[in-house]
Amino acid sequence: MAKVTFFSGQQLPLEMHKVRIIQKLNLLPIEERRKAMTEAGYNTFLLQNVDVFLDMLTDSGVNAMSDQQQAAMLIADDAYAGSATYTRLYNKLVELFGMSYFLPAHQGRAAEHILAKSLVKPGTFVPMNYHFTTSKAHVTEMGAEVLELITDAGLQVTSDELFKGNFDIAALQALITEKGAEAISYVRIEAGTNLIGGQPLSLANIRDTTQVCKDHGILTVLDASLLADNLYFNKTREPQCAEMSIPEITRAIADCFDIIYFSARKLGFGRGGGICIRDEAIYKQMRALVPMYEGFLTYGGMSVREMEAITVGLDETMDEDMINQGPLFIEHMVNELDARGIPVITPAGGLGAHVDAMRFLPHVPQNQYPAGALASALYIASGVRGMERGTLSEQREPDGTEPMANMELVRLALPRRVFTLSQVNYAIDRIDWLYQNRELIGGLKFIEEPEILRFFYGRLEPIGDWVDQLTAAFRRDLGDSL
Ligand code: F0G
Repeated sequence: MAKVTFFSGQQLPLEMHKVRIIQKLNLLPIEERRKAMTEAGYNTFLLQNVDVFLDMLTDSGVNAMSDQQQAAMLIADDAYAGSATYTRLYNKLVELFGMSYFLPAHQGRAAEHILAKSLVKPGTFVPMNYHFTTSKAHVTEMGAEVLELITDAGLQVTSDELFKGNFDIAALQALITEKGAEAISYVRIEAGTNLIGGQPLSLANIRDTTQVCKDHGILTVLDASLLADNLYFNKTREPQCAEMSIPEITRAIADCFDIIYFSARKLGFGRGGGICIRDEAIYKQMRALVPMYEGFLTYGGMSVREMEAITVGLDETMDEDMINQGPLFIEHMVNELDARGIPVITPAGGLGAHVDAMRFLPHVPQNQYPAGALASALYIASGVRGMERGTLSEQREPDGTEPMANMELVRLALPRRVFTLSQVNYAIDRIDWLYQNRELIGGLKFIEEPEILRFFYGRLEPIGDWVDQLTAAFRRDLGDSL
């Protein structure tokens, strides 16, 4: 991707790849989208993908592969043990991260499981810049507490701060002083804070945070799932990195850590995961868990074809023209929405654009799930599937009370290399139309509420007749358009 100045003066992202395999999409008429939403219980997780026009639910496992990745899949070496495919992946990881040991796992949360099981001690703390749902679940499952030590800017929806994912180093120092280094199992840094808008952290902040850990003998762990976006943001926003190549920035980040794990459903344009480890003793401690939970040490639950694709995908991650596609499309989307007065998380981060439902629908109270209602309305108005990241995604307290989320967001993920700019512009246009008609959108209520992970399986319905009104307004303004 390049950012090109057009003759008109406009600066737009321009794709540096062409599409050679296509998948036909369906754009159902609004009446059928409405029916599909009702059948899905007003929960975008329960939609059938065949009814979805643009799937912006996630960037996980749905990134487009290159011709080189597909070609590499043909030479995958199918062997239970000692596969040459594993060696190629291992060598690539050593080349990029400079750590001598690697344990494969079938996806990111499997790596988190192994890490937590071997490193987390009950009663301790695991400080993070921000939690991710699965990372937190594995740590708490082992009886430790996750502490979110994010700088104040991180939780501000709109900001000019370029590295809103930065670790709060003063808070980490205070924690060490208060509880002692031995009360910390490890410090986890997420490169690109998923739940607060894919916001990056700077190389300077990574260096300073991990130095504090080293000074106190605390293990440092990088969640590199969203590393590609973070590399791009460091290259373009961090003065220390201006003269560095992407591989140099990668190595500078990696050099700060004892352990790096990743979901290859995001990093490397494939599907899988794993853990890179610097220290032999720690490697040996974790090694036994891989054959037990994942598979033999040379595949860890991954398909060898995917492993070949990840190896090539990691190489492509070192190419700025490949990793800037997501961030530049997201920046375009965020800037266009912002210019129309639509509330979005700023500055643009990685992963996707995040619409602020709290300000989009100020008339919908949080216990009527404004982000869930907006995600449903967006699907009905456009066929675009986003993900609720607000109160619906929280869990009830044991006494049944419902905690309200810090933010009510609709996440519109942009899987890498998948969409065209006109598709992104279509999504922007339909969000704009919804914003002009926002007073029509009402809340949702549960008709079936599971106790655990209710956002995955729960079923809801609209409160009142707002969907009738929204559909009528769509026909009034857009006529026979789909
Ligand atoms: N860490 C981060 C930062 C993630 O975003 C994810 C997954 C994981 C770990 C877990 O990896 O899915 O391979 O087990 N994020 C997905 C998402 C689910 O939609 O944002 P996984």
